[in-house]
Amino acid sequence: MLTAEANERLTRVGPGTPMGELMRRYWIPIRPFSQLLEEEVMPVRVLGEDLVLYKTPDGELGLIGDRCPHRMALLALGIPGEGGLRCSYHGWKFSPTGQCVDMPLEGPESTFAERVKITGYPVQELGGLVWAYMGPAPAPLLPPWDLLVMPNAIRQIGITELDCNWLQCQENTGDPLHNVYVHGYWFKYVLEKKGRLEETPQETSGGQPERTFYGRTRMADGIESVYANKTRYGLEKGVKYSKALGAEKDTVSRHSTVIFPFYTQTGGPSRVRQELQMRVPIDDTHTYHISYGCFLSPKEIEVTPQPVVPWYEIPLYDEKGKPILDFILAQDYHMWLSQGEIYDRTQEHLGRTDVPIILMRQQFEEQLRIVEDGGEPMNVFRNKEALPDVLHGGEWDETQELHSGPGGRAHISFRFAYHKGYNRDDADRYGPAMPQIIELMQNIEDLAGAPSAD
Ligand code: FES
Ligand SMILES: [Fe+2]
Repeated sequence: MLTAEANERLTRVGPGTPMGELMRRYWIPIRPFSQLLEEEVMPVRVLGEDLVLYKTPDGELGLIGDRCPHRMALLALGIPGEGGLRCSYHGWKFSPTGQCVDMPLEGPESTFAERVKITGYPVQELGGLVWAYMGPAPAPLLPPWDLLVMPNAIRQIGITELDCNWLQCQENTGDPLHNVYVHGYWFKYVLEKKGRLEETPQETSGGQPERTFYGRTRMADGIESVYANKTRYGLEKGVKYSKALGAEKDTVSRHSTVIFPFYTQTGGPSRVRQELQMRVPIDDTHTYHISYGCFLSPKEIEVTPQPVVPWYEIPLYDEKGKPILDFILAQDYHMWLSQGEIYDRTQEHLGRTDVPIILMRQQFEEQLRIVEDGGEPMNVFRNKEALPDVLHGGEWDETQELHSGPGGRAHISFRFAYHKGYNRDDADRYGPAMPQIIELMQNIEDLAGAPSAD
């Protein structure tokens, strides 16, 4: 439970708020670059600020205030051209810094343009995303988090705008055992109600039905405790299982890795399917959710490089306006939405499954104070040597396993992911790169000389 003040402090992101100031220390992913190729000018709201993103014909990117300061027309209706974006009303032109560089109707002698400047934030492209920096100068380096830059991979970017505060999305990653119900029993119930429980084949693995929800319900067996630890880049956490309490064996099951401030990385050592979920605050009550899917190929198979990382929208509702609930990410989305616009943490009752959420809130508070004291928070990088270069927030050194090839764990995990049904049971199914991803999966199976299903 939090006080109302603490809840405000953690959730509000507008200019001048404590969390808003912390967020403005980071490069923020704002749009897929491939979307900008389809639509070269678009409105963007981020951290409560209304902006316009544009690409000039010579490829320059700009992110500037959304209103023309002449007579306040919307620059999202503007015309991109060499060196900037021109307002469609009377032609004032704004460079990526927000500087007015032309006022064609003011006459050639006029120096008025030099004295007019609007907001302009630095932007750059990495990993198929456009990133913006909205904080104090100088901008830090944009960290090349592993999935953004790993070679020999197929990527796709799933986008959803959610009418709820970003923190309830991020706190979901501090909650490993929501899997049991949301993605286990609820998923099963949803399919049962639709009469679809038997519709899809249930592959077996060691005699056990292997559909997503079965595995998730089994995550309730033999829980000893939920653990969480701070790491250099965020948090690691998971569940300890005990044979004495009903688990198959004594084991530790690591859940997704948190990268501060709003990322979670799913997948695991040697898994081919990896995902970065990014919970970007549009404002206090809306979140731009990015599901950045990355499928890593073993080194024996060279994937055809993608000319651009494609993007797609992940739907929340069906054509009748009913919630779509038959895939994993949508189940999470609808839980977060159900908590309310900004969930009232003064009314909550946390239990043992919430241990990582408590640590996550402490980490936010610690970093908020660092910024308030004039310091630089974690994951702000200013020299190249300090940039993260290993998987999973730097705490899992398993790059060799990841590419261990057809005889190794990468292969086994790849088969597991395929039969587990991400192309059916998760948002991946809507992704434009799915044909290449399935082809890659099949190539891996062929490489191993194994039958396509067992
Ligand atoms: S309102 Fe933009 S140039 Fe006049
Ligand atoms: Fe989930």
